[in-house]
Amino acid sequence: MTRHIVATDDDPAIRKILQIMLTKEGYQVTSCQNGNELISELATEETTIDLILLDIKMPGFSGLDLLAMIKRSHPHIPVIMLTAFSDLDTGMKAMRLGASDYLTKPVRRETLVTCIRRVLAASETQQEEVEEKSFYLNQQKDLEKKLHTALQTLNNTTFATLEAFSETIEQKDAYTKGHCSRVRTIAVSIAKALNLPHSNVMIIEGGSLLHDIGKIGIPETILNKNSSLTKEEYDIIKTHPEAGERIIRSIEMFQPYRPIIRSHHERIDGKGYPDGLKGDEIPLDVKIVSLADAFDAMTSSRAYRSALPTELAVEEIKLFSGTQFDPDLVNLFIDKELFLL
Ligand SMILES: [Fe+2]
Repeated sequence: MTRHIVATDDDPAIRKILQIMLTKEGYQVTSCQNGNELISELATEETTIDLILLDIKMPGFSGLDLLAMIKRSHPHIPVIMLTAFSDLDTGMKAMRLGASDYLTKPVRRETLVTCIRRVLAASETQQEEVEEKSFYLNQQKDLEKKLHTALQTLNNTTFATLEAFSETIEQKDAYTKGHCSRVRTIAVSIAKALNLPHSNVMIIEGGSLLHDIGKIGIPETILNKNSSLTKEEYDIIKTHPEAGERIIRSIEMFQPYRPIIRSHHERIDGKGYPDGLKGDEIPLDVKIVSLADAFDAMTSSRAYRSALPTELAVEEIKLFSGTQFDPDLVNLFIDKELFLL
């Protein structure tokens, strides 16, 4: 491929010599007699220019001014400066401004050709490195996109599975229809009001859907009983958090929900079950689901009682603030009116 060199010098004799020498070497050469010509050449031919030869001392734009402009607008085009012997300091300044090299005039053919070959080879390597870097960056972006899609699909599948499980739980008890999904809505809104990280919100969301999974093993005659439970029956109901934990023990993807499943009936005064945990022994995720669970249970009809109106349920929640529920969560729940969802 013929390489294109633009030689800029106000001296017609030097332009002619450069043209002859470089054409002989097989280069395509365009000559410019000043900065304005070079600027318009750059505007029209920028994609074809492989190298610029630039005289330092010219009327109008100086070589250094032009060099600074080129390095700003076309940093990938290498520039070799041409300077008179007495201009060595200026030559060094040009190097600092980004010139690839500088040559003193009069330029010998051999020196010129060697310098141009070296600078073109270095520019080509640099270009290849830039292209390689951009290739890998694009590949990385592509992989990140694919990973994101895969995670999204996995996430959707996980939630579809969780929803299926929660529906199975609700099938056992006609009165709890929609309970898990309402607990999910309330608990997630509390988590978001607390600005919890996305990963915690996801755990709260999944845990809300699965919290009562242990009820699968409780006889329907007890779950649907429309009168008060005997002590024995209540004891059986109280086994559902541990039963739930046993059910999900060997399912890897459900492990993050284990604390919510086991501990959603704990109370901050230590009078809950199954472990009698107190205060901060109960993780925040669990306390959030407990509050949402209790509020939805109060405002839904059950086999043994009808639903409480929202205002009364809110009063009930306030009444148990500091004993059953975390008072900070109760305050947030009421201040942000999260019960109106
Ligand atoms: Fe429960």
